[in-house]
Amino acid sequence: MSELQTLQVDLLARVEGAASIEAVEAIRVEALGKQGRVTALLKSLGGMTPEERLVEGPAIHALREAVTGAIGDRKAALERAALDGKLAAETLDMTLPVDRIAPGSVHPVSQVMDELAEIFADLGFAVASGPEIEDDWHNFSALNIPETHPARAMHDTFYFPEAGEKRMLLRTHTSPVQIRTMLKDKPPIRIIAPGRVYRSDSDATHTPMFHQIEGLVIDRGITLGHLKWTLETFLKAFFERDDIVLRLRSSYFPFTEPSVEVDVGYTMVNGKRVIGGSEGWLEVLGSGMVHRKVIEACGLDPNEWQGFAFGTGVDRLAMLKYGMEDLRAFFDGDLRWLRHYGFAALDVPTLSGGVGVAA
Ligand code: DAH
Repeated sequence: MSELQTLQVDLLARVEGAASIEAVEAIRVEALGKQGRVTALLKSLGGMTPEERLVEGPAIHALREAVTGAIGDRKAALERAALDGKLAAETLDMTLPVDRIAPGSVHPVSQVMDELAEIFADLGFAVASGPEIEDDWHNFSALNIPETHPARAMHDTFYFPEAGEKRMLLRTHTSPVQIRTMLKDKPPIRIIAPGRVYRSDSDATHTPMFHQIEGLVIDRGITLGHLKWTLETFLKAFFERDDIVLRLRSSYFPFTEPSVEVDVGYTMVNGKRVIGGSEGWLEVLGSGMVHRKVIEACGLDPNEWQGFAFGTGVDRLAMLKYGMEDLRAFFDGDLRWLRHYGFAALDVPTLSGGVGVAA
């Protein structure tokens, strides 16, 4: 046997007998690594005469290929054996109970906003939005609340320090979205605008940040009758009761004329107020026919276009429907409160997923 043949037989036998991937790797380094024995043979080709190289070249390359191939095969066989071993040894019991993953829950404010969007979508309303950092004009002036108007004092406004021409503030209500929509879209308009609003106020029923939803309809020949029907239909759907009684009281808002405040009737059941009937009244929203000056401020002709608007507190609606007492708890982020009052994201098919309670 030639020297090359002896080396090949020796290497292949050792590869074949290697018991682990690490052992195979050690042989590879020994034979084919930088200082390896086969590598040295390949390097020696450079010092040979062309005649010697013609004989030795193919032989050395064949050796290298045989060793490389054997190493690859042995590694694959060892890996397969390791996997087979694992498959034989490990078992998976599909009948074992899974670890409980604590599911998150939908905050009542989000739930109520979804319910409102769903109800108004059925009535043909689109959802509009506007910035929470507003300017004085959209939040007040365009809504017929000029600089000197006493109604400005009713909103405890968070103003930004003066910079530039526009007085910037955190919007005190969602009504500026009325203005933005009328400036942007051509009538007929039917939108609701849910969102965050801010006022410097804090007690059991007031938080500096809270949620409102605005409604606006602009079309030809819109009357107070349309407003009443819309609100009645909305409140029946929202409270999921047919015995909803509304009371419209005349009121004042600078941006509506006439203005009405809307109360919803309740009945006392076991010492608790339940919406429905008319034993007592709870104020639920402000509304009215959009003031001519507001329509004009948005570049529309009030002789052609009329409409109604309404605005209400989303948090308050949530409290009335789902029975929370303290508004501040809405924003404390207390997990016990959220688990109690939160909603399962996917649940029985009623209004926006229904009154499912998260685990
Ligand atoms: N923007 C009023 C507020 O925050 C609520 C309101 C009243 C909105 C009457 C309206 C409306 O659109 O017509 O107190």
